Amino acid sequence: MTPHALSISQNPKDPDFVQDPYRFYAEMHRASPVFYWQEYGMWCAAGYDQVNALLRDRRLGRENRWGAPLNPVQGRDHLTDFDRIESGSLLEREPPVHTRLRTLVNRAFVSRSVERLRPRISQLAQELVDALPSGQPVDLLPGFATPIPLTVICELLGVPVERGNELLAWSHAMCEMYVPHRAHETEERANRASAEFGAFLTAHIEEHRHNGADDLLSALIAVRDTGEKLSDDELISTCVLLLNAGHEATVHQTGNAVKTILEQGGDPRRFFETPDLAAATIEEALRYDAPLHMFTRYAYEEIDLGPVTLKPGEQVALLLGAANRDPSAFEAPHEFRPGRPDQKNVSFGAGLHFCIGAPLARLELQQSLAVLFDRRPDLALQAPPRYRDSYHFHGLESLIV
Ligand code: HEM
Repeated sequence: MTPHALSISQNPKDPDFVQDPYRFYAEMHRASPVFYWQEYGMWCAAGYDQVNALLRDRRLGRENRWGAPLNPVQGRDHLTDFDRIESGSLLEREPPVHTRLRTLVNRAFVSRSVERLRPRISQLAQELVDALPSGQPVDLLPGFATPIPLTVICELLGVPVERGNELLAWSHAMCEMYVPHRAHETEERANRASAEFGAFLTAHIEEHRHNGADDLLSALIAVRDTGEKLSDDELISTCVLLLNAGHEATVHQTGNAVKTILEQGGDPRRFFETPDLAAATIEEALRYDAPLHMFTRYAYEEIDLGPVTLKPGEQVALLLGAANRDPSAFEAPHEFRPGRPDQKNVSFGAGLHFCIGAPLARLELQQSLAVLFDRRPDLALQAPPRYRDSYHFHGLESLIV
């Protein structure tokens, strides 16, 4: 095949594609797992082994070493507050800055074992199930999927859960920046949200400095690594990242997992009979229908992708959702089979940027879904749920049961 034959057009906003990106991935797995996606203007990798290897390849990285957004250039004046937060975000940096930030954040995070949150997650899930109306349809996204990760990350960090609605609004506005071809207005909204979020956290950090508490924010303020500590800007960026990453993906994964399990029919309790079964079920749900499908990397050196060689400065999109359904890596990739012998997934990434919140997200999903189905084994989908109009955050619009 010539490179021209590998150039594919697929509108990421096409409603059929948004509802079922897996059909497109299956075609690409058949035709060529490395292809040029015209609408994004970049090469993409869809094969499991290749995506996994590229995520770990130090010749690629998240940091843009050629200009915006880390060194604002002309045309980004309206994004100063957003860029300021991004530049201190470990997700957007590479060594040596990433190593320093990640070591400090890990140290604060690891000192607070997530396992001890299990009873609190269970209690929250019980309370939310108690509040679900019986005998009438209810949307589980606001009623169950959203409040658990939001409450848990707020309590863990030590910011007031009562401000949850504002945090959600700021986070949603900022996440819109990850959608390509956005309107100027969307960018202005994201910048305003960044400024407000930053001001909110500045006040909180000040308060925590004076009245230390037993929470992650205090641990982040106090953390030291061979004399290094987080600057005020880095503290704000880290808190924004933890609050945003700490709920957005988990909310969507909860919705996607409930949908997947209910679509299997039969008694959903069978998937959660033991802790091992619950863990296997959640791992398979993460593989089967992940919330984040695409992460990009810049090439820092020439990278041979097979049919094409990336030049330094070029970007490549790593299609996590496609890798998880690669027929050369999984038997019957489109079937939901908890406990499958070939279980693996790249839903939390891999390598240097592997998700810091993976243990917490796994715990939240295992515990909250076990409670939900134990208490309401009779739940059934009212109608096939629809995904929101966004390829970048693959989650449901609503989940009426
Ligand atoms: C099901 C839920 C979640 C999914 C699917 C998910 C997925 C991911 C992925 C794919 C990455 C790597 C991105 C890349 O390689 O470019 C990542 C990074 C990250 N995630 Fe998560 N995440 C989830 C939940 C969480 C939670 C609950 C937290 C916080 C408590 C969190 C915090 C982070 C942070 C801080 C990073 C950046 C790590 C770094 O750059 O070194 N995530 N996540």
